[in-house]
Amino acid sequence: MEIKIERAKTLKEKPDQNHLGFGKYFTDHMFMMDWDKDIGWHDARIVPYGPIAMDPATMVLHYAQETFEGLKAYRNPQGDVLLFRPEMNARRMINSNKRICMAELPEDMFVEAVEALVKYEQDWIPTAPDTSLYIRPFIYASQPGVGVHPANSYRFIIILSPVGAYYPEGVNPVKIWVEDEYVRAVKGGTGFTKCGGNYAASIAAQVKAEENGYTQVLWLDGVHRRYVEEVGTMNVMFLINDTVVTAALEGSVLPGVTRDSIIHILKDMGYKVEERDLSIDELMEAGRTGQLKEAWGTGTAAVISPIGELCYKGEMITINDFKTGTLTQKLYDTLTGIQWGKLEDKYHWTK
Ligand code: COI
Repeated sequence: MEIKIERAKTLKEKPDQNHLGFGKYFTDHMFMMDWDKDIGWHDARIVPYGPIAMDPATMVLHYAQETFEGLKAYRNPQGDVLLFRPEMNARRMINSNKRICMAELPEDMFVEAVEALVKYEQDWIPTAPDTSLYIRPFIYASQPGVGVHPANSYRFIIILSPVGAYYPEGVNPVKIWVEDEYVRAVKGGTGFTKCGGNYAASIAAQVKAEENGYTQVLWLDGVHRRYVEEVGTMNVMFLINDTVVTAALEGSVLPGVTRDSIIHILKDMGYKVEERDLSIDELMEAGRTGQLKEAWGTGTAAVISPIGELCYKGEMITINDFKTGTLTQKLYDTLTGIQWGKLEDKYHWTK
């Protein structure tokens, strides 16, 4: 793929690596490429980061034909730039786009575009502990028009943001509100895709959780409000006795790259992992009887986020005395060790 480059006239000052927060700063350049029905993908370019002009009728603004991805770049102790399983993000974006009837971006073009922009912006990869360069590829319907149908033009953009911890709590337990009114997704819907609309629909529950003094919500299934699906924007796992239980991928749950990686690591560590329906009643009972040993969310942004408390219909369950569990911490250390190139990558996940 030929990529044209237009260099920014002035470069920004880099932010303080110790106070990055999440997604607040953006690098000097972005990647862009367009798709038209007649010619397919064309005009790959790296251009100065900045506003994009849009016709007010641009279809994404009305019917939300938009999908995105999230992955990170790291610099290992030897100074090399590492990406973590980018082909999984490329494949997931293809599946998301199929569901939303959007143009699909071939896996090799996705990975090449990510690599090219990250290489061009590599001075922006932070090196302070627990920091990385968050990569946000997204595709949207760029055709103007207010009829509801698949667009005949799309734009693919990648922006980059140096980030620290996603939650201000860092790798410390968060309080989780079990949501039994709003739902995130149903089978047959878009839960398995990373489309912006899923996240728009989730915000009301997050606001409700925060109003009640909780950091995020635990989502229950959309039909029965009974089975545990995700936590906030992350997949969720529970250590019940010596078995790790997580929701199966059956259409309403996002196939997380971190989820998949952690399942591999757990099995290698000798843990039994069950991908199955877990009812909130079973979970609360495990909490009451002390069988629920640890719980955590998995996602690219926060990596591993320990859960210290669950509140369901007014009943509170504290997990592991509101401390980060031994297994939770080990999983975080193992995965980030591989991602930051500090541990041997026996899975060949980094490239
Ligand atoms: C992730 O866990 O990586 C996410 O999906 C969060 C992102 C929407 C900021």
